[in-house]
Amino acid sequence: MVVIILGIESSCDDTSAALLGEGGRVLSNIVSSQIEAHRKFGGVVPEIASRHHIEAISPIVEEAMNQADVRYKDLNGVAATYGPGLAGSLLVGLSFAKALAYSLNIPFIGVDHIEGHLWSPCLENEGIAPPFLGLVVSGGHSDIIYVDEEERYIPIGRTRDDAAGEAFDKVAKVLNLGYPGGPAIDSISQRRRPRGERTRFPRARMSDGSLDYSFSGIKTAVATYVRERKLDESTVEDVASSFQDAVVDMLVRNCIRAAEDTRAKTILLGGGVAANTQLRQTLEGRAKEIGAKVYYPSPKYCTDNAAMIAFVGRRRLMRGEKSPLNLKAETTLRLGRKF
Ligand code: KG4
Ligand code: ZN
Repeated sequence: MVVIILGIESSCDDTSAALLGEGGRVLSNIVSSQIEAHRKFGGVVPEIASRHHIEAISPIVEEAMNQADVRYKDLNGVAATYGPGLAGSLLVGLSFAKALAYSLNIPFIGVDHIEGHLWSPCLENEGIAPPFLGLVVSGGHSDIIYVDEEERYIPIGRTRDDAAGEAFDKVAKVLNLGYPGGPAIDSISQRRRPRGERTRFPRARMSDGSLDYSFSGIKTAVATYVRERKLDESTVEDVASSFQDAVVDMLVRNCIRAAEDTRAKTILLGGGVAANTQLRQTLEGRAKEIGAKVYYPSPKYCTDNAAMIAFVGRRRLMRGEKSPLNLKAETTLRLGRKF
């Protein structure tokens, strides 16, 4: 039987709808970005985000259906993100998905946004199966999660303060590079100075030996460093690339340690920061040294998208699972944590 599922994602500032068909193939993946609406505020404004979702959701779903050439009567299920994220944003996609599933009398499946990012490399790589280690790095999260052979999620490390993407965005703001900061810092870093000539920012390490992250120290170190200097092109280049060096070092070090501890031979990298060139290359190189293989998605599946939500929903649907129609939006949902 061909299983066709519609996925909806609206947890933050992107409204997205996607259709997955036979074998999990992506038939369409439409993303409506609100970046322009939030740029002048230097970050996402929750109230503006939810109002944009309300306007965008219907046309985006229509566009996804049309591009995939699928009729509503052919849908087997509807999946939507139910957390974590902004309450007003989550509620738009969640309510839309529930209403659609109810009206078509098909299953509704609530998906954890981080679970979507975690499995996102599988959209383009068939045959990845647990056990594996996941590193999800986005604007709101920096999580190391082990997925065992029974597909249980075991949290290994997380950030204790800022997420990696949040640090990229805040440092970019200090350097006047605009919002979001990750892509700007990434491209500037490609014209960086040789290693020996770069500034070295501190790398946070937990004194209790845990694999948790902390990115607020480096953010403050950069702000202090910049306050004492003139922000000319050469300083911006140095600070941006030295900051990226430090964040990549921290992300890769803990992830590799987690792979050694869990003996994972497969590492899945997902989330907006997974689009970072240096992170991809460094993690791949270090993983190779310990005999592990890294999978990451193409940039369009790194940042928020509904295809990854549909992917997780489709797996669940094929196992005969569904969610109740009174499923609540969970702003602080945490993968692997029991409520
Ligand atoms: O996954 P995502 O689209 O949204 C959240 O779930 O948070 O991630 C957005 C984050 C932003 O902080 C953005 O600056 C960062 O991902 N990002 C990057 C790159 N592209 C996006 N960070 C570093 N390098 C990039 N190339
Ligand atoms: Zn995300």
